[in-house]
Amino acid sequence: MIKRFKIGEPLDTNAVVEQLDNSPISEFPLSVKTGEKIEITFNLAPDDKIYGLGEAVRGINKRGWIYESWCSDEINHTEDKRSLYGAHNFIIISGEKKLALFVDNPGKVEWDLGYTSADTAKITVPSNSAYLYTVDGETERDIVRQFRKLIGKSYIPPFWAFGYQQSCWGYATEDDFRNVRDNHRKNNLPLDCIYMDIDYMDSFKDFTINRGLFPDFKSFVDDMKAHNIHLIPIIDAGVKNEKGYSVYDEGHDNGYFCTDKDGNEFECGVWPGIVGLPDFLNTNARRWFGRQYKALTDLGIDGFWNDMNEPALFYSADGLKKAQEKLSKLSEKEIDIWGFFGMKDAVMGLSNSMDDYSSFYHDFDGKKVCHKDVHNIYGAFMTRAASDYFEEEFGKEKMLIFSRASYIGAHRGSGIWFGDNFSWWSHILLNLKMLPSVNMCGFLYCGADLGGFANNCTGDLLLRWLQLGVFTPLMRNHRALGTRAQEAYQFGNTEDFADVLAVRYRLIPYIYSTFRRCSDENDMMFRPLAFDYPNDKIASEVEDQLMLGDECMIAPIYEQNKNGRTVYLTEPMTFVKLSGENVTIEKLGKGIHYVEVALNEVPLFIKDGKKIPLAKPALSTAELNTENLEYIG
Ligand code: GLC
Repeated sequence: MIKRFKIGEPLDTNAVVEQLDNSPISEFPLSVKTGEKIEITFNLAPDDKIYGLGEAVRGINKRGWIYESWCSDEINHTEDKRSLYGAHNFIIISGEKKLALFVDNPGKVEWDLGYTSADTAKITVPSNSAYLYTVDGETERDIVRQFRKLIGKSYIPPFWAFGYQQSCWGYATEDDFRNVRDNHRKNNLPLDCIYMDIDYMDSFKDFTINRGLFPDFKSFVDDMKAHNIHLIPIIDAGVKNEKGYSVYDEGHDNGYFCTDKDGNEFECGVWPGIVGLPDFLNTNARRWFGRQYKALTDLGIDGFWNDMNEPALFYSADGLKKAQEKLSKLSEKEIDIWGFFGMKDAVMGLSNSMDDYSSFYHDFDGKKVCHKDVHNIYGAFMTRAASDYFEEEFGKEKMLIFSRASYIGAHRGSGIWFGDNFSWWSHILLNLKMLPSVNMCGFLYCGADLGGFANNCTGDLLLRWLQLGVFTPLMRNHRALGTRAQEAYQFGNTEDFADVLAVRYRLIPYIYSTFRRCSDENDMMFRPLAFDYPNDKIASEVEDQLMLGDECMIAPIYEQNKNGRTVYLTEPMTFVKLSGENVTIEKLGKGIHYVEVALNEVPLFIKDGKKIPLAKPALSTAELNTENLEYIG
């Protein structure tokens, strides 16, 4: 059962679709204090677990750390971090009784889940207003279903968005894109999408095209489509502040950008230099921004990724001026060690600073609000601009759209990717752990940068990561400018990559139908073993295997120089290894097993009595035969 509690005068974050009556706060099942801030506390019994918080570091069981919901441009996804790009304020407290909590507040929320005191959890909302929702139920899966019904059905992208996708910050010329396409095709490597990072734009201006690089963009898009490749351009939140650039001029003339306390346009620096931040919280501004996508959809583009929408601020004009003044003061005298640190702090503190987030304002449909109080819905509302426009213009399931920043509610119109990770083995595991957590919050179309965004990738890392990626709805290989090339044909053993990528296409009918069912039934595609086997002590602690759909379990290898791994089987299962067209099958009993998996194989475990369909391999979803399926299990 779900209950809603209203505290103060909460803003409408667009998170839920069902309007519930308010329950009296005296019925709130946990201890709650209201006033200047809201504090919720509860005791943790030794075996209690806490699930949720969507996109966050650390384990599937979130107990024992302090998290902050605060959409952050955070490249270092290390254990010490409290926030990543999404703000997903949902947890399930799983003990003898199970209770979930959703804190619907668009500002910061702190989750001390047994950090300050191991047996106490304390959630702090530094605001006098929020909707609090509680959900109780028999199982975690049932609780998630109820919650997901409250927040509405998850976004379904077009079918082709389940194909393999290649991205790289640095592809710039038409030839760069054609080479990627041709190298995949000639090496028998399937591919459905190539991503266009910021270099396709004219001076990083949203909704423009660098005509020097792409003299006839429409023909280029059509040519790619003729090869069954969709081009997916990036759109950043900030609009370059440049007179004569029509998007900026329109936004400026209509007052659609965020303002400082005096009502002047707030100026900050991102890729294009100084930008205006569209006020996505304002319905007119949001609709206006949504319509800008037409500039590219008219040219045949049918997918986008929205970026830098936490919003990421490299600096504000004001902050930069202050830092420069500080630096010039410091350089007036000879620099001692403290002077040096002062200089360093002045520069390092420029990006994403709380001072800046506290210094600009939105016109939230008539109500002036400070950004810091609504920070966590900014990116979600940017993506809402796009997804609302796409749905009105093209209907459902026609456009691919996913975002870096997100808040619950955005899952209805778009997917997410997990932002800038590293080419680290530990990030394969982090990728796996985030999947059930974001599914709980409605985000089904999701995935990490396979191979890792920052740092240099190796062939074995990419293969092992792809062996997880074949199961994630968004399967995209992406890397940063200046890192080692990591397309599937870059490492010499290209046949191994062809074997693994073929498996994705063989599995698409299964992945797609499971995805659709989970969207329709408000179900999770990926679940911790603990959700399915609540009475199994070992299963309740397994965090490197996941249940997939109703049929399977996955257990990828995430360490270097390993020929296999140990897996725990909660019941007898069929151990399947898929590689190209090959399928090997072995029946395994309940218990712990060591299984060997070669670099060109994808391991999968199918529950006894279940079968899953396999298609014939194909080089794109357009060529995939989804009718003549073989069943294994
Ligand atoms: C951000 C994005 C990354 C992109 C880069 C350049 O870091 O997260 O994916 O490649 O910006 O646009």
